[in-house]
Amino acid sequence: MRLGIFGTGYAGLVTSVCLAQLGHSVTAIDKDPEIVAALSQGTPTIREPGLAELLAATLDAGRLHFTTRPEEAIAASDIIFVCVGTPPRNDGRADLGQVEEVARTIAPLLDGYKLIVEKSTVPARTARWIDWTIRRLVRSEREFDVASNPEFLREGSAVRDFLQPDRIVIGADTDRARSLLLDLYKPCFDCPIVLTSVTTAEFIKQTANAFLAAKISFVNVVSDLCEALGVDVTTVARGIGLDHRIGGHFVNAGLGFGGSCLPKDLSALITVAEDNGVDVDLLKEVERINKARVERLLAKIERALWVLRHKTIAVLGATFKPNTDDVRGAPSLTVIPWLHAAGANLRVYDPAAVSKLKKLFPPDDRLTYATTALEAARDANALVILTDWDEFRLLDLEHLRSLMRTPIIVDGRNMFAPSEMQAAGFEYYSLGRGDVTLSADPHRAPP
Ligand code: UGA
Repeated sequence: MRLGIFGTGYAGLVTSVCLAQLGHSVTAIDKDPEIVAALSQGTPTIREPGLAELLAATLDAGRLHFTTRPEEAIAASDIIFVCVGTPPRNDGRADLGQVEEVARTIAPLLDGYKLIVEKSTVPARTARWIDWTIRRLVRSEREFDVASNPEFLREGSAVRDFLQPDRIVIGADTDRARSLLLDLYKPCFDCPIVLTSVTTAEFIKQTANAFLAAKISFVNVVSDLCEALGVDVTTVARGIGLDHRIGGHFVNAGLGFGGSCLPKDLSALITVAEDNGVDVDLLKEVERINKARVERLLAKIERALWVLRHKTIAVLGATFKPNTDDVRGAPSLTVIPWLHAAGANLRVYDPAAVSKLKKLFPPDDRLTYATTALEAARDANALVILTDWDEFRLLDLEHLRSLMRTPIIVDGRNMFAPSEMQAAGFEYYSLGRGDVTLSADPHRAPP
C-alpha cells in the first residue's frame, strides 16, 4: 500500500520504517529540512535499537522516502498517518496544535478518497475535530475518513513492539476505513485485532497508559509500606506478579514513571474526566504519588550523606529509562539541579544523554560529565543511580568500591540485591527494601 506519514519523531519514524519493512511504500513528512536530509541519508535522528539497520535497508529497497513537501506525500498515498507530537500544555491538557495543523494542511490537498489515521496519542473525540477541520476547509466535496490506530510502542524497544505487537487496535466508523486498515495489518500480523469505533480506540490508548501509570504508583505505595514493615518490595512484586491476573510487568518500584507519555497521558485523561464531571481522584492520587518519588530519593541521599555541601556525588543515568537518549520527564531533571543547589559537587554519567544534558545543565566548577561510570565514581562520597541501564548492573563492584572515597550507593531503581551490596562492602540505600548501613547496632547507625 502507499502510505504517507506526518511526523518523524519516535512514533512517526518507527512507524515509517517498520511499515516500509513490511513491504509498503512510505513517504514520511517533516517540516525540518535538516531532519529530512539526515533521514534520507540513513542517519537516524533518534536512538532506538534496530532502527538504523531497518532505515538503511528500506531506503536501499526504495520503499521509504522523506520529504518536507506534504503535497508530494499526499498525492502518493492511500492512507495518511498523523504521528505528530501532542505535548502537554501548562494546564495538563494535550496541545493539539500540530494535529490541527496537519488537518489544515491535508484539507486543500485531498484528491480522491484518502484515509486519515491518528497514531499520535490524543484525547477521545479528537478525530471528530480533525474531520470537522478538514470538512470546513475542503474546496469541494472530497471523500475521506478519519480513523484511529493508536501505537503502543515503548521507547527503547519500539521496533520490536511494532513488529511483534500484543494487539492492534483499529478504530473506524466506516466499512471502507475498517477494511483498508485490516488490509494493511492482517496479512502481516497474527496477534488479536480489536475492531472498534474511532472514539473507543482513542480512549483505549489513553486508558492503557493511565493503567500502566496506576500500576507503577500502586507498587510504589506498597514499596513505602515495605520499608515500614521491614520487607522487600522486589519479593512482594514477584509474589503478586506471578498471578497472571496481576502480571509481572510494570511492578518495579523505584523513582516512578517519567518520559513523554505516561505523565502526559495521565494528566490529559484527568482533564478529560474533569471536563465531563467524572470523579478521578484515583488518577490524581496516581499522579501525586509519582511526583513524590523523587523527594523520597532526595531524602535518602541526605540520610546517607547528612550534609551535601562539598560532597562529591556521582550521578549514574539521566534518561527516563534505559536504551533511549530521551530525558523528557526524567528524574535527573529534578535531582541534578537540586543536588547542585545543595552545594554538592556532581559528576554525571549517562551512556546516551550527556550531550543533551550539557545543553540543559552546562558544566561548571561543581558539575562535570564523565565518560564512564567508573570515572564518575572516582573519589566520590556517594553514587546515585537514576536510570537502570544494564551496564550499571555489570559494574565490577570491588573495583567500584576501591575507587570511591566512601562506598555509599543510593539506588533509585533497585538494581542490586541489598545482600549482594552488603557482601561487597557498600552502604546501600534503595526504595522499598531494607537499607544496608555500616552497623547493625541501632545506636551506631545513622539516625
Ligand atoms: C509508554 C507505554 O509503555 C507504551 O505502551 C506507549 O506506547 C508509550 O508510552 C506511548 O504512549 O507512546 P514509554 O514512555 O516508552 O512507553 O515508557 P515505559 O516503558 O512505559 O516506561 C515509562 C516509565 O515508567 C519509565 O520512567 C520507567 O522507568 C517507569 N517504570 C516502568 C517504572 O518505574 N516501573 C516499572 O515497573 C515500569
